[in-house]
Amino acid sequence: MREPFFAANWKMNKTPAQTREYARAFVPLADKFRERAAVVLCAPFIDLVPLHEELLLADSDTYIDIGAQDVFWETEGAFTGEISPVMLAGENVQYCIVGHSERRRLFGETDEMVAKKVFALIAADIVPIVCIGETLEENRMGKTRERVIAQIQASCTQLTEEQRGNIVIAYEPVWAIGTGMSDTPENANETIACIRDAAPGLSDTTIIYGGSMNPSNARALCAQPNIDGGLVGSSCVDPVNFAALIEHGLQGWDDAKP
Ligand code: PGA
Repeated sequence: MREPFFAANWKMNKTPAQTREYARAFVPLADKFRERAAVVLCAPFIDLVPLHEELLLADSDTYIDIGAQDVFWETEGAFTGEISPVMLAGENVQYCIVGHSERRRLFGETDEMVAKKVFALIAADIVPIVCIGETLEENRMGKTRERVIAQIQASCTQLTEEQRGNIVIAYEPVWAIGTGMSDTPENANETIACIRDAAPGLSDTTIIYGGSMNPSNARALCAQPNIDGGLVGSSCVDPVNFAALIEHGLQGWDDAKP
């Protein structure tokens, strides 16, 4: 049985001091989603420790999980600037975004690198949030399905069916990220249906939509049968806005999937 799932992708925003402020504002706002949704805050590496401290200090019984935005696949060694899954696990990181389109486009991350990161995270008991999505050009050429199926198959090659059921996939059309132009709920739902059919085990996987999800469109998107929630960039930077988005997303769930 899939559950509603909302992850904030802070991207390269927030200092440790701003992280503490955010956590203090967000925890009371998000308390009403306890036992109704999984909520994850994916923060820059430098903010993971303050986030951990704040969530525990604010609420020793917190249900809000901590996520990272990237990882390297080796455990330790001469890899200047990198962070390993073991280091993340040591800071109570339960989720980690991999293969975000910004990392693919700006930092040359390939499907093969994503596959290694996914495998390394699972070995460290961290749930990967695997991002896939087509570019505007691929979309215009009618290649959306082909592209996302190829990406997900390449990212999950080494996984067993059971492991595939326990990851999170974020379908994020690249042209919708940060543009204010989200995909239509129906299109996103159909593309995610294709992703679910791309490999055994994916019918039970949490699959969320990302790309300009906001408090106004979250309800319609989350009412779609294949959409389990959102990976949220612009609308998560302000804790009040992110809480409003989750509220509307859950209304969508309740409308269609009570
Ligand atoms: P956006 O970003 O909500 O600003 O479109 C989503 C993402 O990049 O994960």
